[in-house]
Amino acid sequence: MADPSDLFSVRGKVACVTGASSGLGRRAATVLAQAGAQVIGIARGAEALTDWQAEAGGDTSAVAFDVSDRDALGDLAQEVSKPFGSPDIVIHAAGINTRQTADDVTPEGWDITLGLNLSAPFFLSQHLVPGMKAKGWGRIVNFASLQTTRAFPGGIAYGASKAGIAQLTRAMAEAWSSHGITANAVGPGFFRTKLTAAVFNDPERAAANAAQTCIGRNGEPEDLDGPLLFLCSDASAFVTGQVLMVDGGFTAK
Ligand SMILES: NC(=O)c1ccc[n+]([C@@H]2O[C@H](COP(=O)([O-])OP(=O)(O)OC[C@H]3O[C@@H](n4cnc5c(N)ncnc54)[C@H](OP(=O)(O)O)[C@@H]3O)[C@@H](O)[C@H]2O)c1
Repeated sequence: MADPSDLFSVRGKVACVTGASSGLGRRAATVLAQAGAQVIGIARGAEALTDWQAEAGGDTSAVAFDVSDRDALGDLAQEVSKPFGSPDIVIHAAGINTRQTADDVTPEGWDITLGLNLSAPFFLSQHLVPGMKAKGWGRIVNFASLQTTRAFPGGIAYGASKAGIAQLTRAMAEAWSSHGITANAVGPGFFRTKLTAAVFNDPERAAANAAQTCIGRNGEPEDLDGPLLFLCSDASAFVTGQVLMVDGGFTAK
């Protein structure tokens, strides 16, 4: 039984985070590093990853990689295991929303969305799970969304990918949790990032979203810190296959 004062600790764990250069993935990678994990940040842009490393401090490494390149994810798994050994924790935060309407969505827009938001978390996890199985401990954290259960205009491909994430999370739990590997997802409400610039550039829309929450505001990056540390630590050892909505109660009403 873990010491209660240590329950939420990630100290000494190796974590890799996709989408670590921006927004919520960056916040996740930073909070894990500041909580004492060794963190490998992944995104396509090398410069922004260097910025993230400077901001996070701690023990970090960076790999510039396109995680939508499904056939190369085995190579990525090897690459992220070089600096600190095989990851104990993987956070899949890289994501895209093309905002194409149902009438206008293109095959390319559909494929890029499903490829990055849904296929990459599965196939990268598949390559990292053997290392977690060998340790008998692992944490997989996917990124769900309000659109996991709600339909928003211009969100047909994104919503399909994020609804898929909920079932992927349950299926990962079914497949791997008997090996000490939990799989859960966080479901953020509205947070101001590059991804949601279109929403936050419209003050009325941002205010309407804030009003829809029970708490009365949109999310701030640090609202994710506690939920992420919970899902990445021993505190959540008996929690798996779940979507933890971090949305100020948006989906509660
Ligand atoms: N912001 C919100 O309100 C909100 C709400 C619900 C769910 N989410 C989810 O939270 C996650 C993070 O979103 P965000 O708002 O933080 O977005 P963001 O600020 O746009 O950041 C996206 C990150 O993903 C990386 N990325 C994009 N395409 C990539 C690729 N092909 N390969 C590797 N990395 C890639 C980007 O870096 P590069 O461009 O350099 O690759 C960047 O680091 C997403 O899954 C999103 O769906 C966000």
